[in-house]
Amino acid sequence: MTVSQRVGSGDETADVVILGAGPAGLVLGNLLQASGVDCLVVERADAAQVRTRARAGFLAANTVRILDRHGLAEGLHRRGREHSACEFRTQDGRFRLDYGSLGRGERHTVYPQQELVTDLLTHYQGAGGRISFRTEAVAVVGADGSRPEVTVRDPDGRPSRLHARYVAGCDGRHGAARRSLPPGAVRRHHLDHGLSWLGLLAQAPPSLDAVGYAVHPDGFAGHMARTPEVTRYYLQYQRGQAADAWSEQRIWDELALRMGAAEYGALHRGPIVQRTVVDLESDVLEPLRYGSLLLAGDAAALLSPSAAKGANLAVLEAEILAGALVDDLAHGDARGLERYSAQCLPYIWRAQEFSQWMLRLLHGPSGPDAESLFHNALRRARLESLRTSRSQQDWFAEHYVGV
Ligand code: APR
Repeated sequence: MTVSQRVGSGDETADVVILGAGPAGLVLGNLLQASGVDCLVVERADAAQVRTRARAGFLAANTVRILDRHGLAEGLHRRGREHSACEFRTQDGRFRLDYGSLGRGERHTVYPQQELVTDLLTHYQGAGGRISFRTEAVAVVGADGSRPEVTVRDPDGRPSRLHARYVAGCDGRHGAARRSLPPGAVRRHHLDHGLSWLGLLAQAPPSLDAVGYAVHPDGFAGHMARTPEVTRYYLQYQRGQAADAWSEQRIWDELALRMGAAEYGALHRGPIVQRTVVDLESDVLEPLRYGSLLLAGDAAALLSPSAAKGANLAVLEAEILAGALVDDLAHGDARGLERYSAQCLPYIWRAQEFSQWMLRLLHGPSGPDAESLFHNALRRARLESLRTSRSQQDWFAEHYVGV
């Protein structure tokens, strides 16, 4: 079955129904479309929301290689900017790591995720790819068999069914794919880090030419360039506190304090155009497959944003999954699908391990008790070793940019 068809009122058929038009779903859609596999993307949001949602922005060198391989990197080469340095600021001073000349010598490309998603969408639709916006997947049924169905609600709230051979769950951590897994079908490894960040998008130029990580007794603060006019900041924030609890003045004052602006230079202030509270959690589902339902991106594993791995893993998994689906659907070879989960999980766990290491580097307990003092002294030793040891710096660079 390679040609889409309508069956019954409102029902549609595709070889692969992809839930979600984020980086995972759209890379997968593009690769399947390019190989002639019939697919349909189902997305809850409307097209304008998908094209403008600001999220991550640091693409690893391997992500760029994947997108290059499939002719999907033109926009990021034209408008993205290479990035290769980070700076740590602590009570002991500051130090900079030019990670682009450490480890494997790889760099990031800074390219806002909404621009990547826009490029992927334009490419997919330009190649004739099918997508239904404002269509919410409600459940995946029959995934334990070879003819799964997705129940959806169309933009008018009318229910219909999509018939598929495979369903790709690329609809994030709260999507229908995860919800549809029967109890016990997959194991969830989960860690709530007990920490929260206030994620901010400021209409202001970056304040330093590096990713900034500030480790301060008041808590962590982060600085990440997005474009010459827009910068992302993070502030460690009290769990449960509302996103609008602090005034813009207080936010900038706290950022300036934690980032040592008095000593190292003022921050470029500007209107805060987006604030989101992120409760730092990580999880991994194992295996990434339940019958004919395959998981990729945030639906497969959630990473804390401490090392910017989420979108990069999503692209990697989508490429592996696309290859496996093409092998099966076009050549009758199911081995790639059988291997899919085992192939992705080592990458996911290595990314989890590094993200966790970063979290422990950037946050410490705040109490005056002996255990907190001990942990904070360890953290200081960890930072000192990163500042002074070339082999530690090479290790850091390799994992920081690598996926
Ligand atoms: N039905 C249809 N679409 C849905 C549903 C649903 N029930 N639930 C969620 N979606 C859509 C969302 O609107 C979103 O467009 O699925 C998409 C999921 O996209 P992302 O959240 O970007 O997830 P993913 O493609 O896995 O990308 C992973 O990108 O920004 C980073 O850190 C982020 O790690 C994340 C990474």
